[in-house]
Amino acid sequence: MEIDLSEKVALVTGAAGGIGAAVARTLAASGAAVVVTDLEARAEDAGKLVAEIERDGGQAEFRALDVSEESAWQAVMQHVAETYGGLDVLVNNAGVVLVKPVEEVSLEEFQWITGINVGGAFLGVRHALPVMKKRAAARPAGGSIINFSSAMGIKGYPYGSMYSLTKGAIRLFSKSIALEFADLGYNIRVNSIHPGLVDTAMVEQESEELSALGAMGTSTPDEMRQAFQALNPLGRLGTPQELANAVLFLASDLSSFVTGSEMTVDGGETAA
Ligand SMILES: NC(=O)c1ccc[n+]([C@@H]2O[C@H](COP(=O)([O-])OP(=O)(O)OC[C@H]3O[C@@H](n4cnc5c(N)ncnc54)[C@H](O)[C@@H]3O)[C@@H](O)[C@H]2O)c1
Repeated sequence: MEIDLSEKVALVTGAAGGIGAAVARTLAASGAAVVVTDLEARAEDAGKLVAEIERDGGQAEFRALDVSEESAWQAVMQHVAETYGGLDVLVNNAGVVLVKPVEEVSLEEFQWITGINVGGAFLGVRHALPVMKKRAAARPAGGSIINFSSAMGIKGYPYGSMYSLTKGAIRLFSKSIALEFADLGYNIRVNSIHPGLVDTAMVEQESEELSALGAMGTSTPDEMRQAFQALNPLGRLGTPQELANAVLFLASDLSSFVTGSEMTVDGGETAA
């Protein structure tokens, strides 16, 4: 069965590169009109992505959005309402990582990572709801919110306590609002996605910073990358496209009975 998103409008955060870019490309290739958002500083990469999507016959546009800024969410959602008349799919993908022993983490760093990883998803849900609700009520398949958590939102890992704290929060935030929206009859499903190690700039950063700390007996980024690959039973890093495939399912009507779930896409890392 071919997945058809041609009636849907989707917004993806942190979509200038990495997993978010693959998600935007994949949703657009299935027919969705995609609002590609990321920091203003990433406008050039985002612009290239939009041009690529349009060249392939898809529909996309870039809007600058720092997910930790409430006024930016308000402006983007007003634009979405005026331009598209509503929103069907929200993908809260933007995220940052902090690699540090907890005893060295400052309050400013704690506030920075929670502001983006948790605050960003909360503000996204808060400001997307008015734009999603009417449309979801009018359509049998309803709306879909997909929040990026992590394998690190299920299991603990050394030097990643701040990141795990934010990703664990996303897991239960997603389940709670999935139940709440069902109870309120909103017809909006909410699920969290839990990637294992995926080959993006984030893993590059983690390889450098963890090996500098000597984590898992490593001393170079290459050694850390090898150690990462050995962390899951499939023995490799995931690709951004493999995550985009899971988002495509959760965004589509094929997942109409799926809400409150935590979808692991991690090569078996959390099963072990
Ligand atoms: N790569 C992995 O191994 C991995 C594993 C588990 C979970 N994740 C999660 O998947 C999601 C995507 O990760 P990725 O690997 O593609 O990372 P990435 O670093 O390649 O991309 C993250 C994107 O978020 C954007 N961003 C950062 N701060 C932002 C802000 N304040 N507002 C808006 N955008 C902002 C960045 O500009 C970037 O485009 C993140 O939520 C991440 O935590 C990634």
